[in-house]
Amino acid sequence: MPLFKKQPQNRILPTHIAIIMDGNGRWAKKRSMPRSAGHVAGAKTFKNIARYCNKIGLKYLTVYAFSTENWKRPKDEVEGIMNLLRDYLKDAENFKNENIKVKFIGDLEPLADDIKELIKKDEDGSKDATGLNLSIAINYGGKDEITKAVRKIVNEGIPAAEITEQTISDRLYTGGMPDPDFIIRPSGEYRLSNYLIWQSAYAEYWFSDVLWPDFTPKHLEKAIDDYNHRNRRFGGV
Ligand code: FPP
Repeated sequence: MPLFKKQPQNRILPTHIAIIMDGNGRWAKKRSMPRSAGHVAGAKTFKNIARYCNKIGLKYLTVYAFSTENWKRPKDEVEGIMNLLRDYLKDAENFKNENIKVKFIGDLEPLADDIKELIKKDEDGSKDATGLNLSIAINYGGKDEITKAVRKIVNEGIPAAEITEQTISDRLYTGGMPDPDFIIRPSGEYRLSNYLIWQSAYAEYWFSDVLWPDFTPKHLEKAIDDYNHRNRRFGGV
């Protein structure tokens, strides 16, 4: 059940929340468990939060599940995260029954063939959903995304004088999506870590010491309440 059945009066829900799901490893370490157990717990939190966002009527949620830099982690940890992704994708009912439209952003090419097939099936199967637009960033890096957009522009032969900010935005993985208004990073780190660096130009940020597996809808509600006290001026006065 949502904590609020209705949005409290006058409360503004961001249109697009982006989350850096950080702290799984430390959560596991604190319990003398392997890092992979932290990712298992993190995946549960992810499902819970995505479902909750859908229930309160959020339109866009984008989560950082695996970065272009995460391949540097031990092989078994990378495999563990990929297996969690497989489990999630196989359970396609996640999206269908819940009216969630799922999309993957990032360079999907290096992923295993079975994962790529599952991604395609789930994206196709949920394309008519009208609830939450859930984007999962896999093998995603903001600098890589911008580099690829520049290559597309050059390959399309667009004259330099005709290139606008929109030309670039349209060629990012997030093309057609509104920019995130609100970026949440738990686990006590204060960095963007190459996440949605172009799209976050005017986003509000929310940090918390809570580790991602411990993140609950109550934390999200607190974050949204704080968002409501921000004064967004977009460079104006
Ligand atoms: C960062 O915490 C987390 C990751 C790199 C992986 C996130 C993956 C999941 C939450 C599960 C899989 C996702 C889906 C979509 C099923 P960290 O490992 O860097 O934690 P630490 O900083 O405490 O070491």
